[in-house]
Order: sequence, then C-alpha cells, then structure tokens
Amino acid sequence: MPATIVIGAQWGDEGKGKIANLLAKDADVVVRYQGGNNAGHTIVIGDEVFALSLVPSGVIYPDVVPIIGNGCVIDPKVLLEEMGKLRDRGIDPSGLRISGNAHVIMPYHRKLDAVRERFLGKNQIGTTKRGIGPAYLDKFSRDGIRVQDLYDSNILRDKLEAGLREKNQILTKIYSQLPFDAAVIADEYLEYAVQLSDNVADTSLLVWRAIRDGKKVVFEGAQGALLDIDHGTYPFVTSSNPTSGGALTGVGVGPKEIDAVLGIAKAYISRVGSGPFPTELDDDIGRAMVEIGGEFGTVTGRRRRCGWLDAVALRYSVRVSGITELALMKLDVLSEFSTIRVATAYRTGATEYTDFPRQQRVLYECEPVYEDHSGWQTDITGVRAFVDLPPAAQAYVRRVEQLAGVPVNLVSVGPDRSATFEVGR
Ligand code: IMP
Repeated sequence: MPATIVIGAQWGDEGKGKIANLLAKDADVVVRYQGGNNAGHTIVIGDEVFALSLVPSGVIYPDVVPIIGNGCVIDPKVLLEEMGKLRDRGIDPSGLRISGNAHVIMPYHRKLDAVRERFLGKNQIGTTKRGIGPAYLDKFSRDGIRVQDLYDSNILRDKLEAGLREKNQILTKIYSQLPFDAAVIADEYLEYAVQLSDNVADTSLLVWRAIRDGKKVVFEGAQGALLDIDHGTYPFVTSSNPTSGGALTGVGVGPKEIDAVLGIAKAYISRVGSGPFPTELDDDIGRAMVEIGGEFGTVTGRRRRCGWLDAVALRYSVRVSGITELALMKLDVLSEFSTIRVATAYRTGATEYTDFPRQQRVLYECEPVYEDHSGWQTDITGVRAFVDLPPAAQAYVRRVEQLAGVPVNLVSVGPDRSATFEVGR
C-alpha cells in the first residue's frame, strides 16, 4: 500500500519496530509522527540487534528517507548519540530529515518528569522519565522550543530565559531542585543545532510530495492506542496521539492520502507503568509470558505486566484508529499453554460490556469474560507459512480476526525478520 500507518493496537511494545522495518524494506519514506525517545524499537536482522528510540527504523536501508515529523518531541543529545551509534555500525544516518516544527526536549523537561513522578507517590504514572510529558506540556501551553528556534540564537536565549523564570521557581520552591541556567542550555543546544543543520527540513512537504509521486510511505507510530492522550486509559497514558489521527497532525498530511492502517497486536497483551489492565495475570501464566516473551522494556528495562488478549480493547483500537488490518505478533509465546484465553467482554455485576466502557472506573472493577481455546503446545518458532501452523494456532488467529472485525494479514512467531509471514485467504 502506498501510504500505510503502522500503529500499536494495545499498550505499546507490540512489535511495531519489527513490522515497520519489514515494510521499510520496500518503502521510500518512513516517518515517525509522535512521541520521542520514550519509544524503543528492537530490530533483529540475522545476529544483529538494533535498539532505536528516536530514529525511524527505515534508517537501516540506504534507499529509505527516514523522517521525524512535527508531532514528535526530540531530545537532540539522544538523537545525535543514536546517529553516532548507527554510524559505528556502518549505517549512514545523514539522510534523516527532522521537522523544524517538532518540539525540543530540554534538560529541565527531563528533571521535571522525574521529580513530578516522585511527587505523585502512589499515583505516579510510571513514565519513562525522558521528559516527554513536560515537553508536550510546554508545546500546548505555547511555551515550548521548536527545532527551528535552535537556529536563531536570540530567539532561543529569549525563550529559554522567559520559560525558566517560571520553571526555576517551580523547580526550586516546589521540588527543592537547583535552578537551570538559560545561557548554559542555549550554548549546549546551539552546538547540537550546528550538528543537525543539514537534517532540518519541511517534512510535511517532503511526505506530501512523496505520496503525490506514488512513493511508498510508512507512518511509524510509537507506543499504542491505549496509551493515547485522548483515547487511552487517561491519566496512565503518554502525552501524544499514537492513534492514526496523530499520524495526520504529526506529519501534516490529510486523511485522503492514507491507504491503510495496520494495527500491531501481540497474541496476548502487556503494559508497562501504572494503569488499569482488566486481563492482567498476576500468576504463573503471567510470569511465564514475561519470561518466554522477554517482556522487559527496551527503554527502561522495566518488567512488563502481561495478560490474555483483550478483544474488547482490540476492537476499540480498531474503531478509534480505523485499523484496516492486523499483524498478530509473538504467537509462539502462547505455545506453552494448554488453554489459551481471550477476553470477549467485561462484566461488572449484571452489566456486560462488549464495547470498551466509556467510564474508566469499569476497567478497574470489571471481570473479563473469557473464551477458552485449546493450545497447540508445540514449538512453532520454525514455522514460515500460515498453513504449517498447528490447527489450534490457525483457529486462534482466525478467531482473533473475527473478534477484532478486521483481517489478520501477518503473523509473527519469533524475533527474526524471517519469522513473520502472511496469512493466506
Ligand atoms: P511517557 O511517555 O514517558 O510520559 O510515559 C507515559 C506512559 O506511557 C507510561 O505508562 C509509560 O510506561 C508508557 N510508555 C511510554 N512509551 C512507551 C513504549 O514505547 N512502550 C510502552 N509503554 C510506553
């Protein structure tokens, strides 16, 4: 498909990087549209493991233009480090293009992220502490610094001084921290700007032209639909829109340019950080999912919470993002279990919810209504065609597409790129 949005259909960590990478191989442009270095994409090619947090996964292909769109927040220090690591591996990141309208993560954003979380105590969100939330907060309070501001030292210094007048009061008086010095930050960031000057571009125009020229563009989402600031499990969400609407505003293209929305879902579900999680398994099965699935955060190393696939939440993600097809990841992790469960509804008292409840309280109080499937209990990591999956595994995939209401077109049974195959019709 010429223009495809790839989004996480759960709480992130579904394997978007792997699929975006697979699509990137045949793409001309791969563009990230939201989030920052809170995302973590592990890409495995042969024996090589690449962990990217900010640069789009397409960077590894010389013919792909990787783009960081205006909807992202960029920590230039991290970006330059990541570009350096790519160079060390023989990958040239100089073709990377970044939007001048993207907002910049500053040292005080990182500090505020950490101290606010401490202040929240038991109510903390469990953020990645990368300064993502505070940077978006400044964007929306119209107090942010954009990439383009780094190219006018007077504007940068004025904005930093004005912003820090308030933030230093907050940092020193509320959080008992040391104040930041605007001049020191300006000097540091002006130097980053010099190093990135060839990369800054009108990325909305670049993407629009690519689409008009019939090129293949992959919109690479970060996090997942249930972490969306509007549609996710607020306040336990990220500060941007990982849903497909975020791809339009986060790049600057119109809805008619989009051909497909590919949702990525694991065959079970996980989340890191706090927040409601109806199908969470705090038992041996949940622990087995963590171990077998290697469910530890790419960015923070935190252990992910795991549970059975939640079809109520999946249907919701399909709806709010207009997902046209799904990729079902990590099916092999379920091979262990004799019975595989899927939540088809939630129940509180006599009320049953087949649609995602509009009142978030329900997510805490409800019991999932499970449907049980027989497991296949055989190793499927070597399977490379849908028809070669055990019948029980095929039936599980078919049932997931029925419950989600859209086809599952890709299945993944292991970390290697070759372990992902199409589902024949
Ligand atoms: P923030 O994005 O660092 O502000 O964190 C807000 C919430 O989103 C926390 O629950 C994080 O654990 C979660 N989160 C952020 N990025 C990711 C991701 O890439 N995968 C999964 N969860 C994430």
